[in-house]
Amino acid sequence: MASSNVAARPGSSVYSDTTVRLFSLAAVLWGVVGMLVGVVIAAQLAWPELNFGIPWLSYGRLRPLHTNAVIFAFGGCTLFACSYHVVQRTCQTRLFLPKLALFTFWGWQLVILAAAITLPLGMTQGKEYAELEWPIDLLIAVVWVSYAIVFFGTIGTRKVRHIYVANWFFGAFIIAVALLHIVNSAAIPAGLFKSYSAYAGVQDAMIQWWYGHNAVGFFLTAGFLGMMYYFIPKQAERPVYSYRLSIVHFWALIFTYMWAGPHHLHYTALPDWAQSVGMVFSLVLLAPSWGGMINGIMTLSGAWHKLREDPILKFLIVSLSFYGMSTFEGPMMSIKTVNALSHYTDWTVGHVHSGALGWVGLISMGSLYYLIPRLFGQKQMYSVKAIEAHFWIATVGIVLYIAAMWIAGVMQGLMWRAVNPDGTLVYSFVESVKATYPYYVVRLLGGALYLGGMLIMAWNTVMTVRGGRPAEVRIPTVSPAHA
Ligand code: HEM
Ligand code: HEM
Repeated sequence: MASSNVAARPGSSVYSDTTVRLFSLAAVLWGVVGMLVGVVIAAQLAWPELNFGIPWLSYGRLRPLHTNAVIFAFGGCTLFACSYHVVQRTCQTRLFLPKLALFTFWGWQLVILAAAITLPLGMTQGKEYAELEWPIDLLIAVVWVSYAIVFFGTIGTRKVRHIYVANWFFGAFIIAVALLHIVNSAAIPAGLFKSYSAYAGVQDAMIQWWYGHNAVGFFLTAGFLGMMYYFIPKQAERPVYSYRLSIVHFWALIFTYMWAGPHHLHYTALPDWAQSVGMVFSLVLLAPSWGGMINGIMTLSGAWHKLREDPILKFLIVSLSFYGMSTFEGPMMSIKTVNALSHYTDWTVGHVHSGALGWVGLISMGSLYYLIPRLFGQKQMYSVKAIEAHFWIATVGIVLYIAAMWIAGVMQGLMWRAVNPDGTLVYSFVESVKATYPYYVVRLLGGALYLGGMLIMAWNTVMTVRGGRPAEVRIPTVSPAHA
């Protein structure tokens, strides 16, 4: 993975980084916005009157705004930026059709803008993580197909024979998301902003959670694993621990994820055998997930001391610990008897955010901290101390968030199932809501800290960009592209 940060000679071939720069800056901006909405809804759960009686500030409308903003705007822009950067460096060539790449940037921002307008207005298909109405879905499909053309076109015009493993993960993420989005969004329009799903009943539910779970597996996992396989070796200046393991990791992970969706539908009208298939594949998923985590962490072999001094490595490595934690917890929650307790409770929300804040958030931040100074011709971010402060504030925030949700979730599950000897319920539902209140306040505090860290990052990014200028990085002509 040789990189050259040398200024270009006139006429020499340079990487096309304009779109990478735009996506990186947009990721930081949307991270702040999405997390701010997360903090607002966390506050509303503690104090419901904070919707001020205004419909478009109501929890039911802001919640999907939060999930769409953090997953597709913050996570999505990070994935676009990193995949466009990595595919060029590891293929030692420019982006295929840079203007189409620029179209993916503006097209994706249009999708985000449309989501930010329609969701607070209450326009939704009502499918979690696939709420946007059909005209926006069509735009997503066009942008995504363009993304695939740019990405695979760049692979097709590569100057080195080998396709580095990070690109396999990015490629699988792009293909799977196209498939999931197109199949799950099939709907019959009934006006410009209203449509009905093409599927009905339990089939609709199964297709939605096949989509939903693979949105986790491919959008929130495979693409970020691509980042892990590039940025950890780069930042640690060490080759990947085991390249062979990375290939086994890739095939095992993408094969297994596809079958695990039914664990979202335990104890529903879905046939029991399908629920069991979901449970078994979820348990199997522990193995490739941990294989990948170990491969990432062990890449630091012989360089552990770097973890003490380098805050970017702290982000990257600690993100893997949270990945390991949430991919241990997920299989446990997929066991039917455990799910009978956890489902509908805040335990699920705790699991989500140990993956989302711990894994997706931290690996994104670490990768962006690596990328941004290089894109603007700087050696490092404006303030390394601020990166260190961000890391600790975010980590404390995550711990508060997930610990509060775990305790709240298990408590809710136990309260709901407690019965008196005569068969009546020990607690009314509202008693469990009242008991949850202090944990919602602690979660809010954790979320506010996490947002605080993101604001520090935004400030550091502005200062770095102001002090630099767009860097033109020359494409090396010799040397193979990977470690
Ligand atoms: C400041 C940081 C954040 C705060 C305060 C926050 C807060 C919240 C809250 C209050 C909910 C609703 C929970 C419920 O319905 O009971 C939620 C849901 C969710 N958030 Fe966040 N969030 C934050 C960051 C993130 C990030 C960075 C991601 C993803 C990368 C994320 C992904 C999600 C998802 C997927 C859900 C839906 C969970 C489910 O349906 O079980 N959040 N968040
Ligand atoms: C081996 C890996 C994993 C398995 C087997 C797994 C399993 C599960 C299970 C059983 C649930 C609860 C379903 C329910 O009761 O409704 C769940 C929910 C969820 N998980 Fe995971 N999980 C894994 C990893 C992850 C990771 C790494 C993330 C985030 C980056 C994540 C994000 C989510 C989300 C967003 C939900 C909530 C979906 C919803 O109801 O809206 N999971 N997962």
